[in-house]
Amino acid sequence: MGLERTLIIVKPDAVQRGLIGEVLARLERRGLKLVALKMMQMSRELAEAHYAVHRGKPFFEDLVNFITSCPVVVGVVEGPNAIAVTRKTMGETDPAKSEAGSIRGDLGLTIGQNLIHGSDSPESAAYEIGLFFRQEEILSYERAIDRWVAG
Ligand code: RTP
Ligand code: MG
Repeated sequence: MGLERTLIIVKPDAVQRGLIGEVLARLERRGLKLVALKMMQMSRELAEAHYAVHRGKPFFEDLVNFITSCPVVVGVVEGPNAIAVTRKTMGETDPAKSEAGSIRGDLGLTIGQNLIHGSDSPESAAYEIGLFFRQEEILSYERAIDRWVAG
C-alpha cells in the first residue's frame, strides 16, 4: 500500500478535556502529515451523513448527539498506509479493549467517548474527506523531515 489520506475528527470529549493538542501530537509524532485542519460545529445533517453506515443501530442517536454536542477538530492526515496506521494509533473502538500506548488506550475509558475518529477503509476515507473538505482546502507540501520518517 502506498501514500494514503484519511479523515480524523478530534471528538467533543477530547475538545472538552483540553486534549486537542495531545491527540494531534500523537499523529504528528507517528510521522503522519496534516494536510488539512479546521475547528467546526458539526450539524446534525453532517453527523448523520458521516455516520450513515450506523443508521438504524441502537447507538446511532447517542452517537449523533455526542458528535454534535460541541465543536470538533477535523483534519486530513497523509502518509504511507495512513488509514491503518491512524487506526492503530487510535486503538480499538472500545477504550477498555485498547492497548496502552494508543490514544484511546491511554486517554479513554468508555466506547461512547473515545476521543478520536479515523476512517476505516479507502472508500470511507474518500467519502468522509469529501464531506468535510473542498479539494482546495487539502494542501500538498513537502516537509524537510519527510525523508526521515518515510524513507
Ligand atoms: P469512529 O467511526 O468514531 O472512528 O469509531 P470506530 O470506527 O472505532 O467505531 P464504529 O464501529 O465506526 O462506531 C462509531 C462510534 O459509535 C460508537 N459505538 N458504540 N455501544 C456500542 O456498541 C457502540 N458501537 C459503536 C463509538 O463511539 C464509535 O466510535
Ligand atoms: Mg468508524
